[in-house]
Amino acid sequence: MTQDELKQAVARAAVEYIQPKLELNSVVGVGTGSTANHFIDQLALIKHQFDGAVASSDATADRLRDHGIPVYDLNSIDSLSVYIDGADESDHRLCLIKGGGAALTREKIVAACADEFICIADESKLVDVMGVFPLPVEVIPMARSYVARELVKLGGSPEYRQGVVTDNGNHILDVHGLSITDPVDLEKRINGIVGVVTNGLFAARSADILLLGTAEGVKQLQA
Ligand code: 5RP
Repeated sequence: MTQDELKQAVARAAVEYIQPKLELNSVVGVGTGSTANHFIDQLALIKHQFDGAVASSDATADRLRDHGIPVYDLNSIDSLSVYIDGADESDHRLCLIKGGGAALTREKIVAACADEFICIADESKLVDVMGVFPLPVEVIPMARSYVARELVKLGGSPEYRQGVVTDNGNHILDVHGLSITDPVDLEKRINGIVGVVTNGLFAARSADILLLGTAEGVKQLQA
Protein backbone atom coordinates (compact mmCIF):
# COMPACT_ATOMS: atom_id res chain seq x y z
CA MET A 1 0.00 0.00 0.00
CA THR A 2 1.19 3.52 -0.69
CA GLN A 3 1.46 6.12 2.07
CA ASP A 4 -1.61 7.85 0.65
CA GLU A 5 -3.62 4.60 0.72
CA LEU A 6 -2.64 4.13 4.38
CA LYS A 7 -3.86 7.68 5.08
CA GLN A 8 -7.16 6.90 3.37
CA ALA A 9 -7.53 3.71 5.42
CA VAL A 10 -7.07 5.54 8.74
CA ALA A 11 -9.47 8.26 7.61
CA ARG A 12 -12.14 5.60 6.99
CA ALA A 13 -11.34 3.96 10.33
CA ALA A 14 -11.73 7.30 12.11
CA VAL A 15 -15.21 7.81 10.66
CA GLU A 16 -16.17 4.26 11.69
CA TYR A 17 -14.81 4.99 15.19
CA ILE A 18 -16.75 8.23 15.75
CA GLN A 19 -19.97 7.36 13.89
CA PRO A 20 -21.67 5.52 16.82
CA LYS A 21 -20.88 8.48 19.12
CA LEU A 22 -22.37 11.15 16.85
CA GLU A 23 -25.74 12.74 17.55
CA LEU A 24 -27.73 15.13 15.38
CA ASN A 25 -26.43 18.09 17.42
CA SER A 26 -22.78 16.94 17.50
CA VAL A 27 -20.01 19.22 16.30
CA VAL A 28 -16.78 17.55 15.19
CA GLY A 29 -13.33 19.16 15.49
CA VAL A 30 -11.35 18.69 12.28
CA GLY A 31 -7.59 18.98 11.74
CA THR A 32 -5.43 20.01 8.81
CA GLY A 33 -3.28 18.20 6.26
CA SER A 34 -3.54 15.42 3.71
CA THR A 35 -4.72 12.79 6.21
CA ALA A 36 -7.30 15.19 7.63
CA ASN A 37 -8.43 15.93 4.06
CA HIS A 38 -9.14 12.22 3.52
CA PHE A 39 -11.04 12.25 6.80
CA ILE A 40 -13.17 15.21 5.64
CA ASP A 41 -14.01 13.38 2.41
CA GLN A 42 -15.15 10.33 4.42
CA LEU A 43 -16.99 12.45 6.98
CA ALA A 44 -19.01 14.05 4.19
CA LEU A 45 -20.57 10.65 3.47
CA ILE A 46 -22.31 10.76 6.88
CA LYS A 47 -22.92 14.53 7.04
CA HIS A 48 -26.63 14.10 7.83
CA GLN A 49 -25.78 12.31 11.09
CA PHE A 50 -24.25 15.35 12.85
CA ASP A 51 -24.62 19.12 13.00
CA GLY A 52 -21.32 20.51 11.72
CA ALA A 53 -17.64 21.04 12.37
CA VAL A 54 -15.04 23.35 13.85
CA ALA A 55 -12.02 23.76 11.58
CA SER A 56 -8.36 24.08 12.58
CA SER A 57 -7.44 26.11 9.49
CA ASP A 58 -8.92 28.16 6.68
CA ALA A 59 -8.05 25.35 4.23
CA THR A 60 -9.98 22.81 6.29
CA ALA A 61 -12.95 25.18 6.64
CA ASP A 62 -13.03 25.59 2.84
CA ARG A 63 -12.95 21.82 2.26
CA LEU A 64 -15.68 21.20 4.81
CA ARG A 65 -17.91 23.86 3.25
CA ASP A 66 -17.23 22.48 -0.25
CA HIS A 67 -18.70 19.21 1.02
CA GLY A 68 -21.75 21.03 2.45
CA ILE A 69 -20.71 20.56 6.08
CA PRO A 70 -21.53 23.65 8.20
CA VAL A 71 -18.46 25.23 9.86
CA TYR A 72 -18.86 26.88 13.26
CA ASP A 73 -16.75 29.47 15.04
CA LEU A 74 -15.20 27.77 18.06
CA ASN A 75 -16.46 30.60 20.26
CA SER A 76 -20.05 29.66 19.48
CA ILE A 77 -19.59 26.06 20.64
CA ASP A 78 -20.09 25.00 24.26
CA SER A 79 -18.42 21.62 23.96
CA LEU A 80 -16.62 19.49 21.44
CA SER A 81 -16.79 15.76 21.97
CA VAL A 82 -14.12 14.79 19.48
CA TYR A 83 -11.16 16.19 17.51
CA ILE A 84 -9.57 14.26 14.63
CA ASP A 85 -6.23 15.27 13.15
CA GLY A 86 -3.02 13.94 11.60
CA ALA A 87 0.53 14.32 12.90
CA ASP A 88 4.08 14.63 11.67
CA GLU A 89 5.43 12.33 14.40
CA SER A 90 4.00 10.40 17.36
CA ASP A 91 5.88 8.66 20.13
CA HIS A 92 4.50 5.61 21.90
CA ARG A 93 2.88 7.75 24.62
CA LEU A 94 0.97 9.56 21.82
CA CYS A 95 2.82 12.82 22.32
CA LEU A 96 2.95 14.42 18.88
CA ILE A 97 4.83 16.80 16.65
CA LYS A 98 2.41 18.77 14.50
CA GLY A 99 2.57 21.87 12.35
CA GLY A 100 4.02 20.58 9.11
CA GLY A 101 1.08 22.39 7.50
CA ALA A 102 1.63 25.52 9.65
CA ALA A 103 -1.74 25.12 11.41
CA LEU A 104 -0.35 24.13 14.81
CA THR A 105 -1.82 26.96 16.89
CA ARG A 106 -5.43 26.51 15.81
CA GLU A 107 -4.96 22.74 15.94
CA LYS A 108 -3.76 22.99 19.54
CA ILE A 109 -6.67 25.23 20.49
CA VAL A 110 -9.28 22.88 19.02
CA ALA A 111 -7.55 19.83 20.54
CA ALA A 112 -7.60 21.55 23.95
CA CYS A 113 -11.38 21.98 23.73
CA ALA A 114 -12.14 18.41 22.74
CA ASP A 115 -13.12 15.63 25.14
CA GLU A 116 -11.35 13.08 22.94
CA PHE A 117 -8.42 13.64 20.55
CA ILE A 118 -8.04 10.98 17.87
CA CYS A 119 -4.83 11.12 15.87
CA ILE A 120 -4.81 9.51 12.42
CA ALA A 121 -1.51 8.70 10.75
CA ASP A 122 0.32 6.26 8.54
CA GLU A 123 2.91 4.01 10.18
CA SER A 124 5.89 6.15 9.10
CA LYS A 125 4.85 8.71 11.73
CA LEU A 126 5.35 6.45 14.76
CA VAL A 127 8.83 6.88 16.29
CA ASP A 128 10.63 5.95 19.50
CA VAL A 129 12.01 9.46 20.08
CA MET A 130 10.60 12.52 18.32
CA GLY A 131 12.74 15.15 16.66
CA VAL A 132 13.77 13.76 13.30
CA PHE A 133 10.88 15.82 11.91
CA PRO A 134 11.88 19.46 12.59
CA LEU A 135 9.73 20.97 15.34
CA PRO A 136 7.55 23.85 14.03
CA VAL A 137 7.32 26.95 16.22
CA GLU A 138 4.85 29.74 15.39
CA VAL A 139 6.31 33.16 16.22
CA ILE A 140 5.17 36.76 16.16
CA PRO A 141 7.05 38.15 13.10
CA MET A 142 9.01 40.88 14.95
CA ALA A 143 10.28 38.29 17.48
CA ARG A 144 11.56 35.79 14.90
CA SER A 145 15.31 36.39 15.27
CA TYR A 146 15.15 36.68 19.06
CA VAL A 147 13.19 33.43 19.35
CA ALA A 148 15.63 31.73 16.96
CA ARG A 149 18.56 32.71 19.22
CA GLU A 150 16.73 31.35 22.29
CA LEU A 151 15.98 28.07 20.46
CA VAL A 152 19.69 27.67 19.71
CA LYS A 153 20.33 27.91 23.49
CA LEU A 154 17.93 24.95 23.89
CA GLY A 155 20.09 22.91 21.51
CA GLY A 156 18.10 23.31 18.30
CA SER A 157 18.93 24.66 14.85
CA PRO A 158 15.99 26.85 13.81
CA GLU A 159 15.25 27.51 10.16
CA TYR A 160 12.84 30.21 8.99
CA ARG A 161 10.10 28.66 6.80
CA GLN A 162 10.45 31.17 3.96
CA GLY A 163 7.32 32.52 2.36
CA VAL A 164 4.89 30.97 4.86
CA VAL A 165 2.46 33.15 6.80
CA THR A 166 0.09 31.31 9.14
CA ASP A 167 -3.68 31.84 9.23
CA ASN A 168 -2.92 34.01 12.27
CA GLY A 169 -0.49 36.25 10.33
CA ASN A 170 2.64 34.82 11.97
CA HIS A 171 5.89 33.12 10.91
CA ILE A 172 7.17 29.56 11.41
CA LEU A 173 10.60 28.46 12.62
CA ASP A 174 11.37 24.76 12.01
CA VAL A 175 13.76 23.51 14.67
CA HIS A 176 16.18 20.80 13.53
CA GLY A 177 18.49 18.64 15.59
CA LEU A 178 16.35 18.06 18.67
CA SER A 179 16.11 14.68 20.37
CA ILE A 180 12.88 15.04 22.30
CA THR A 181 13.08 12.71 25.28
CA ASP A 182 10.91 14.89 27.55
CA PRO A 183 8.23 16.41 25.30
CA VAL A 184 6.14 17.85 28.16
CA ASP A 185 9.11 19.82 29.51
CA LEU A 186 10.30 21.00 26.08
CA GLU A 187 6.80 22.10 25.07
CA LYS A 188 6.59 24.22 28.21
CA ARG A 189 10.10 25.70 27.84
CA ILE A 190 9.63 26.73 24.22
CA ASN A 191 6.22 28.23 24.94
CA GLY A 192 7.91 30.26 27.69
CA ILE A 193 10.04 32.19 25.17
CA VAL A 194 8.62 35.67 24.63
CA GLY A 195 7.33 35.98 21.07
CA VAL A 196 6.40 32.31 20.69
CA VAL A 197 2.72 31.82 19.94
CA THR A 198 2.97 28.06 20.41
CA ASN A 199 5.13 25.15 19.35
CA GLY A 200 4.17 21.96 17.55
CA LEU A 201 4.64 19.64 20.52
CA PHE A 202 1.31 18.21 21.61
CA ALA A 203 2.47 16.69 24.88
CA ALA A 204 0.62 18.45 27.72
CA ARG A 205 -2.47 17.54 25.70
CA SER A 206 -1.43 14.45 23.78
CA ALA A 207 -3.70 12.29 21.64
CA ASP A 208 -6.02 9.86 23.43
CA ILE A 209 -6.06 7.37 20.58
CA LEU A 210 -3.81 6.84 17.58
CA LEU A 211 -5.29 5.11 14.55
CA LEU A 212 -2.22 3.94 12.69
CA GLY A 213 -2.34 2.81 9.07
CA THR A 214 -0.04 -0.16 8.54
CA ALA A 215 0.45 -2.73 5.81
CA GLU A 216 -1.32 -5.23 8.12
CA GLY A 217 -4.34 -2.97 8.61
CA VAL A 218 -5.32 -0.11 10.91
CA LYS A 219 -4.02 -0.49 14.46
CA GLN A 220 -5.48 1.32 17.45
CA LEU A 221 -2.96 2.56 20.02
CA GLN A 222 -3.98 4.07 23.33
CA ALA A 223 -1.95 6.38 25.58
C1 5RP B 1 -0.69 20.47 9.92
C2 5RP B 1 -0.39 19.24 10.68
C3 5RP B 1 -0.64 17.94 10.01
O1 5RP B 1 -1.49 17.18 10.82
C4 5RP B 1 0.65 17.21 9.83
O2 5RP B 1 1.54 18.04 9.10
C5 5RP B 1 0.45 15.88 9.09
O3 5RP B 1 0.12 16.14 7.76
P1 5RP B 1 -0.25 14.99 6.74
O4 5RP B 1 -1.53 14.38 7.20
O5 5RP B 1 -0.39 15.72 5.42
O6 5RP B 1 0.87 13.98 6.72
O7 5RP B 1 0.05 19.26 11.81
O8 5RP B 1 -0.29 21.63 10.62
